[in-house]
Amino acid sequence: MAMQLDAIVPFGRSMDEYRRLFALSDEDLKKRIVSIADGPASFNAEMTRGGFAVVSVDPLYSYSGADIERRFDAVVDGIISQVKATPADWVWSYHRSPEHLRASRHQALRDFVADYDDGRRDGRYLVGELPRLKYPDGVFELVLCSHFLFLYSAHLSYEFHKASVVEMLRLGSEVRIFPLLTLDLQVSPYLAPLLSEIRALGYVADIEEMPYEFQRGGRHMLRIRGMPDCSPMSRATTFFNR
Ligand SMILES: C[S@@+](CC[C@H](N)C(=O)[O-])C[C@H]1O[C@@H](n2cnc3c(N)ncnc32)[C@H](O)[C@@H]1O
Repeated sequence: MAMQLDAIVPFGRSMDEYRRLFALSDEDLKKRIVSIADGPASFNAEMTRGGFAVVSVDPLYSYSGADIERRFDAVVDGIISQVKATPADWVWSYHRSPEHLRASRHQALRDFVADYDDGRRDGRYLVGELPRLKYPDGVFELVLCSHFLFLYSAHLSYEFHKASVVEMLRLGSEVRIFPLLTLDLQVSPYLAPLLSEIRALGYVADIEEMPYEFQRGGRHMLRIRGMPDCSPMSRATTFFNR
């Protein structure tokens, strides 16, 4: 068992990691992006500094920056200890060691917190939680979800995953989800049935290998795109009612 967590933890990645794990091209960065379950990632802060636009959504954003830091501090030692106890479960190419991992996560948190109040004021950090979000249909071009769906399959049901994917497809024409493994390094049991249901509705759903792997074997992203002959909402509604 690579990692056992009682709850979904506020651990955040950097923009460089997001670019690798979502294969974000220079063109992608210019799109209207929503990043769901974004937590204390520094993606939004770094994107904003670079002149790009992204909206981050997470239930965590009902808390202050200081509260989010406290939540991170409460879990970081336990997570790093579990990583140290299972060195073969991780690929030490991007993060070179458990201490390097800790430093990277701290850096992301610091970048996030430094940007958080400005971002909340500007509407870049929005409180919201899957499987229902309050934004209008099709307002985004790219919908991202890193280290939440599939990863927490032991905590969240198949129905939750299905409704969440429907909701993300309602918001934008392309959805990308990474990773497809659970916390214990198994391909999520939800992946195959979800792929069947999505494809049966005419969505194009591809599993692509990414140039990023930290969980051993966790280097695949799910990309889902709509077909132009059918509106996202009608397809999503059909999917949800099946
Ligand atoms: C492990 S963190 C991932 C953070 C970021 N996406 C990354 O990869 O660096 C998981 C995040 O999921 C958020 N979360 C928990 N329940 C959620 C829900 N129902 N909808 C959206 N996000 C949720 C948590 O608050 C947490 O910030």
